[in-house]
Amino acid sequence: MNQKDKIILGIESSCDDTSASILKNSAILSNVIAGQKVHEDYGGVVPELASRAHQQNIIPVVEAAIKKAGIKKEDIDAIAFTRGPGLLGSLVVGTSFSKAFAMAMNIPMLDVNHMHGHVLAHFIDDEGKNKPKFPFLCLTVSGGHTQIVLVKDYLEMEVIGTTIDDAAGEAFDKSAKLLGFPYPGGPLIDKHAQNGDPKKFEFSRPQIKGYDYSFSGLKTSILYFLQKQTKENPQFIAENLDDLCASIQFTIIEILMKKLKKASKELNIREIAIAGGVSANSGLRKAIEKAAADLKWNTYIPKFEYCTDNAAMIAITGKFMLEKGLVADQSISATARLEI
Ligand code: KG4
Ligand code: ZN
Repeated sequence: MNQKDKIILGIESSCDDTSASILKNSAILSNVIAGQKVHEDYGGVVPELASRAHQQNIIPVVEAAIKKAGIKKEDIDAIAFTRGPGLLGSLVVGTSFSKAFAMAMNIPMLDVNHMHGHVLAHFIDDEGKNKPKFPFLCLTVSGGHTQIVLVKDYLEMEVIGTTIDDAAGEAFDKSAKLLGFPYPGGPLIDKHAQNGDPKKFEFSRPQIKGYDYSFSGLKTSILYFLQKQTKENPQFIAENLDDLCASIQFTIIEILMKKLKKASKELNIREIAIAGGVSANSGLRKAIEKAAADLKWNTYIPKFEYCTDNAAMIAITGKFMLEKGLVADQSISATARLEI
């Protein structure tokens, strides 16, 4: 191994995925993710079950990441972990593991903001993929967050728009629940939407100032619509499933794109990135590509495995923190709330 090579172990445990990744300079050698099936029957993530599953998963996941990368644990120069935001009980597992690992190996540790991670996933080396140029706008859309972030530099970001209630991923998952899909239903809406008519049903759109979002009204509008229709025809959902999914997806994407286009126009920034689990959505990806053509945007969409929660994005963020000397000490603790 080259003397100057920097190897960072990334750890992510903010919600219901336990992940460990090995980063060498800016390239990912391994990115192991263990999901948690235990939540499927509950219609959402159960915090107590999540932290218990993280405890069971963390050591095997780290061992697998080290093995897959073909390195020894003694080769690791620093450990980066998600400090927040997220579920406290889940974050504590990754944080405690990282503190113990850093102490045992006598290496620095980097306390990463999960939301920085989603944005900075764009800087992982990926053959043939360009990286965004500063300043750029990043639409970060996940199960827990919906933000338009103005990214001025690697660790210099400002949230210019956010949701005042549900996140975009929640809008997908809650709508999916109303249609009878298991959690998380976002990917299932996406799948059915491919065969449906996006203009078949109209749902209400929020009227919110500035670059902020709101999705709770949409959920209520879908709920009332379905209640009314199923009263008249109990088979309504089953008979119209694809069109319902396509119409719901179309509405959510229109809401997301409207504010993103407004921000791009008003701030005169045409470097546009998307991040977070919902950026896996095929309709959103198409809408971004269309805007790129119509509005001359340069767009950046991370590889699928770096869109949803993963430790590779935590490791790359740790690299930028390490370069700036932003290291944590053993007094660091996890925190459920953390601003960008
Ligand atoms: O980033 P992520 O893995 O976890 C959080 O930090 O929340 O995002 C998970 C969210 C879930 O709400 C899931 O339904 C949604 O991303 N999601 C999708 C798709 N894939 C994942 N939503 C719509 N279409 C998809 N293809
Ligand atoms: Zn996330």
